[in-house]
Amino acid sequence: MSLRIAPSILSADFTALGVAIAAAERGGADLIHVDVMDGHFVPNITMGPPFVAAAKRAATIPLDVHLMITEPDRYIPAFVAAGAAMVSVHVEVVPHLHRTIAHIKEQGAQAGAVLNPSTPVSALEEIAPDLDFVLVMSVDPGFGGQRFIEQSEAKLRRVRQLLDRTGSRAAIEIDGGIDHGNVARVVAAGAEILVAGSAIFHSPDVERATRDLRTAAQAGLAAPGRG
Ligand code: DX5
Ligand code: ZN
Repeated sequence: MSLRIAPSILSADFTALGVAIAAAERGGADLIHVDVMDGHFVPNITMGPPFVAAAKRAATIPLDVHLMITEPDRYIPAFVAAGAAMVSVHVEVVPHLHRTIAHIKEQGAQAGAVLNPSTPVSALEEIAPDLDFVLVMSVDPGFGGQRFIEQSEAKLRRVRQLLDRTGSRAAIEIDGGIDHGNVARVVAAGAEILVAGSAIFHSPDVERATRDLRTAAQAGLAAPGRG
């Protein structure tokens, strides 16, 4: 089991995107998490394919593109062409999830399904074996810098159980309010891909904050059943 640190560039200084990505990479980041919002599914508008293409030019590690948009099927090819290695879509807005997951894979990216905090784990029941990863939101999506919803820890354990029961090999990603203080707990509960925006990019030393997040996360692997 290897942990992956995924700094979310939503909280980075966009005037110095390349500098921010390079610092995260020096700190040992495994992925760059990119939050795409449409002002419709979520009450915020962020970046589109040209921004992803710019991040791709700056990054040497894979881009993990989180689509918080109501019609992801229309835009999946453009995001993969722009450089997305992983693409996730929200189960709350996708009416034909098998088709959408297959579409992401056909484009050549890893496919993930995202659950909002109020969406039950059972929404994954039929799709779990087809997923490369599951993203558990631990805040309502829309903004960086929100507080971690505590019930997410128990939810991660239920996702882990569902994946084991359905024979799914999907990795579990957690996103929202993750910091150096709670990251070990979410790892102990089953998270493997750890998204952090403000905890990394609002730090005066991005490289060190990235490195320290991994060190803090690794403590969670000592929990029973992990490692
Ligand atoms: C929230 C986004 C998150 C966000 C995380 O809608 O999906 O990826 O950027 O930021 P922090 O870590 O500050 O909660
Ligand atoms: Zn995200």
